[in-house]
Amino acid sequence: MKKTNPIGLFDSGIGGTTIWREINKLMPNENTLFLADQKNAPYGTQTKEAIVALSHKNVKHLVDQGCKLVIVACNTATTNAIQELRTSFDIPIIGIEPAIKPASLLTKTSTIGVLATKGTITSDLFTAKLKLYPDVKIIEQIGYNLVTLIEAGQLHSQEMRDLLELYLIPMVEQGMDALVLGCTHYPYLTPIIKTIIPENVVIIDSGEAVAKHTQKILREKDLLNDNDSLGECVFYSNIDTTVLKTFVPSHYRVEEIQF
Ligand code: DGL
Repeated sequence: MKKTNPIGLFDSGIGGTTIWREINKLMPNENTLFLADQKNAPYGTQTKEAIVALSHKNVKHLVDQGCKLVIVACNTATTNAIQELRTSFDIPIIGIEPAIKPASLLTKTSTIGVLATKGTITSDLFTAKLKLYPDVKIIEQIGYNLVTLIEAGQLHSQEMRDLLELYLIPMVEQGMDALVLGCTHYPYLTPIIKTIIPENVVIIDSGEAVAKHTQKILREKDLLNDNDSLGECVFYSNIDTTVLKTFVPSHYRVEEIQF
């Protein structure tokens, strides 16, 4: 495997670009290949079997393109499919899960909130993880329809604000002082969320930690790209790319392909 081979990332849609941004910030010289499986979004309302099959198809495509490592830039895919993916493919596969640990260390009220998809919240992996924090009250909230609205280009709609108020205000009323964004689409909602919840509530996502972990794994495997020039980053969707383009810096290639 060559060090210049790309890092692959996939998500059900545009959400994983929040992870790509952290990767690109930390390792701007790495080549990256991003797959947005928008034809099949959202994943969060689908069965475990369907999520595993879609995730497998995406990783296979990235492996066929020569990726040296794959980041599952989707909490729903990670919590449902990471074991199957690691068994099926030889390259390192990095997953992303709701950042409960940092939230549990930061909370002063011993009350944290997790906003995530149904697929993540009902997964065995997530349920098992909750048991590791018996002293913290963890309020779980499914973000019904948030991903669908973002994918439809409705990030700044009144419907989005209404849904976020509906989900977040009861969490605040129960004493939450740390909010975990357990879906890679949700960091794009942070500016709106900040107008709904009090300033003392810390908002936490997993992006930076995943980027650091990825760098560590690449270093251990001697796969860090040692070129000094900026990496080539390509973004693929399997539907019209209009929405994806609004979430990708304009100088990068965004293309519609079949996968
Ligand atoms: N970005 C995905 C996640 O992190 C969204 C899942 C979906 O498509 O519902 O969970």
